[in-house]
Amino acid sequence: MIVSIPRETFPGECRVAASPTAVKKLLKMGFEKVLVERGAGETASFSDAAYEQAGAVLVDTAAAFAQGDLLLKVRALSDAEVGKVKEGMHVMSYVYPASNKPLLEKLAARKVTLLAMDCVPRISRAQKMDALSAMSNISGYRAVIEAASHFGSFFTAQMTAAGRVPPAKVLIVGAGVAGLAAVGAARGLGAVVRAFDTRAAVREQVQSMGAEFLEVMVKEEGEGGGGYAKVMSPEYIKAEMELFAQQAKEVDIVITTALIPGRPAPKLWEKRAVENMKPGSVVIDMAAEQGGNCELTVPGKVVVHNGVKIVGLTDYPSRLPTTSSELYGNCLLNLLTDMGGGSGYHINMQDEAVRGALVLHEGTLTWPPPVVEPSPQAVKPAAAATPKPEAAAAVAKPANRGVRMAIVGGLLLALWLFLKFTQTGAASPATYAFLQHLTVFVLAVFVGWQVIWSVTAALHTPLMSLTNAISGIILVGAMLQTNGDTPTGALIISLIGALLAAINIVGGSYVTQRMLHMFRK
Ligand code: NAI
Repeated sequence: MIVSIPRETFPGECRVAASPTAVKKLLKMGFEKVLVERGAGETASFSDAAYEQAGAVLVDTAAAFAQGDLLLKVRALSDAEVGKVKEGMHVMSYVYPASNKPLLEKLAARKVTLLAMDCVPRISRAQKMDALSAMSNISGYRAVIEAASHFGSFFTAQMTAAGRVPPAKVLIVGAGVAGLAAVGAARGLGAVVRAFDTRAAVREQVQSMGAEFLEVMVKEEGEGGGGYAKVMSPEYIKAEMELFAQQAKEVDIVITTALIPGRPAPKLWEKRAVENMKPGSVVIDMAAEQGGNCELTVPGKVVVHNGVKIVGLTDYPSRLPTTSSELYGNCLLNLLTDMGGGSGYHINMQDEAVRGALVLHEGTLTWPPPVVEPSPQAVKPAAAATPKPEAAAAVAKPANRGVRMAIVGGLLLALWLFLKFTQTGAASPATYAFLQHLTVFVLAVFVGWQVIWSVTAALHTPLMSLTNAISGIILVGAMLQTNGDTPTGALIISLIGALLAAINIVGGSYVTQRMLHMFRK
């Protein structure tokens, strides 16, 4: 099977579907040949020479479309490109089938098999093929860089001899993949960050990144299924706009990313909010391509209103073309690996990731894919995997109770033996010593058990350092016992004790070293 990678022709598109590293991997996966159009990687800083070195064959535009069996692209095929596609060819690219019906009809007439990278289902198993998330992450980062370049001050607070500069206040509206990447990048630059989202599940993620999570008084669940947002009620949107109009007076930068799948972007940042902002403030509207979250956004342009810059860029991944191309190429490679690689390439309709992405199969429309209902078996373990706290306690109880009963039983036995022998006067010094050791042993087990179960699991590793110290004591005790000439039972037990304590000390030190290594930069 021959793979071909044409140059992207969409205006302003700087990415390429595969980097030279990806070409190498494609050949390693068993694809017969990789054709790369001359200059395809130029805007992403990949030279033709680098592709040749990776094993690609450089070709012209016509050959890239006519000679390959599998075409890898970033953007959906343009009208001009559709005309060049070979009959029966397989194509992998962004497609957006819901809004690209004429393209599907033209490709169906050419018996094309089309896989849409924007339709890979967002399930855990398919995360490595999820080009949308990979690009959103890049976009969120780049949006902060764009904001910094339009903003007239530092992000971080500065205390200099020439004066004090306060930190920038950044508000992120919509904390999905791009929003969270923006939170991370803005925090990294030292800004004071706050974020808002309609999905309550996001709160912890925002807070764990060191940002404040804003809320409105209206209580309404924003989760619309599959992790995506739903359209909120007019009351909720009104309360949200009210919150933003107030926030606008405080923040220097707002980055809006709010989207609802299959709908135009909700208008959230009104003209009034822009007018409430200080001159020099910046609005980065990442939803510009879907109509924008800000009323004054002009897609693809930077407009200034009352001294506030409203940035409506729509090409964030293309502004980091090298990394975008590498990561997009990796998503393609991961999907191709799932499809059997070069030698075993096939369309498996049972594979949820492949079926989700498949739009045309040999010219037949296969989109939208059938809805996958979670199987009862899949639901059951999930429910069992997250038991309620009471249920978890109930599960843990029998084991706990058994150990406690054994400890109490051991203590009672030791006490009974002690009383029996001391009362009858039948105890020899050896029996006394044995009883003493038994009591210490049972008490040690009891104390050890209590200590470990009272300490949270997260602190078990530091606790291990403590048990190492205890092992040191055991080692000394065991060595003191090994002073006899003849191999008695005590000697053998001492040697076993010394061996186990030594294993504990050496193993514990090794694990502690590895842990410390993780914290070293
Ligand atoms: P998106 O780009 O469709 O939306 C961006 C954000 O806007 C979302 O967080 C949404 O809740 C928010 N939003 C919508 N209406 C809003 C409003 N009126 N006000 C404020 N915020 C609003 O979403 P994205 O980033 O593509 O993914 C959203 C979620 O999907 C993720 O957070 C995750 O839960 C899930 N997901 C799961 C994946 C997986 O399991 N493989 C991969 C990617 C996403």
